[in-house]
Amino acid sequence: MTTIDAVVLISGRGSNLAALLAAADAGELGARIVGVIANRPGAAGLQTAAARGIATDVVDHRRFAERALFDAALAEAIDVFAPRLVILAGFMRILGEAFVEHYQGRLLNIHPSLLPAFPGLDTHRRALDAGVRLHGCTVHFVTPTLDHGPVIIQAAVPVLDDDDEATLAARVLAQEHRIYPLAVRWFAEGRLRLDDGRVRLAATQRGDSALIAPAIDER
Ligand code: GAR
Repeated sequence: MTTIDAVVLISGRGSNLAALLAAADAGELGARIVGVIANRPGAAGLQTAAARGIATDVVDHRRFAERALFDAALAEAIDVFAPRLVILAGFMRILGEAFVEHYQGRLLNIHPSLLPAFPGLDTHRRALDAGVRLHGCTVHFVTPTLDHGPVIIQAAVPVLDDDDEATLAARVLAQEHRIYPLAVRWFAEGRLRLDDGRVRLAATQRGDSALIAPAIDER
């Protein structure tokens, strides 16, 4: 498998980063994470990266009076690594149009909802409030509109009657850790093609089983 270089952007915990690194260790990512950049100096994921000898950098958004200046500094820090792919993994800053265009077609994001439902923050709370029976997560190419852009892969989980925000978030997060490495691998393998705003995936198994919630027994 050819391996591409990727940079991961984080803001906090970094559990998706850890899942990507675990997939890389298992030889399943198709990508080498060459740098991890945070917009917060205290982002825990920076330690995960540093402990593995991965280069880290911080571009603290609070040092910039305007978003455009932050975006430019961030792009400069990313481009030091000349990555083929930029992976947003819990990166909680809105990125401007010029930044997004600079990385067009090679900028991925993971979002904790089944987009286009629940873009933005507090997705698990909002899913519970809306009473949906299925919730989940989405990996997509980034476009200038927040939490928008061609969808690569989604995972759906049931919302259970006794769920609270924490239990639902944990069920979704476990799926995030499964689908993000897959999306990166497909990208690295050159299997993702954009066709009129939709992602086509070359040579994958056709999956047409449904996840129904609440679960039904059809016997
Ligand atoms: C993840 O749930 C990710 O989907 C979400 O932030 C969390 C980061 O967790 N991202 C967004 O909400 C982006 N709109 P992590 O730092 O443990 O990977």
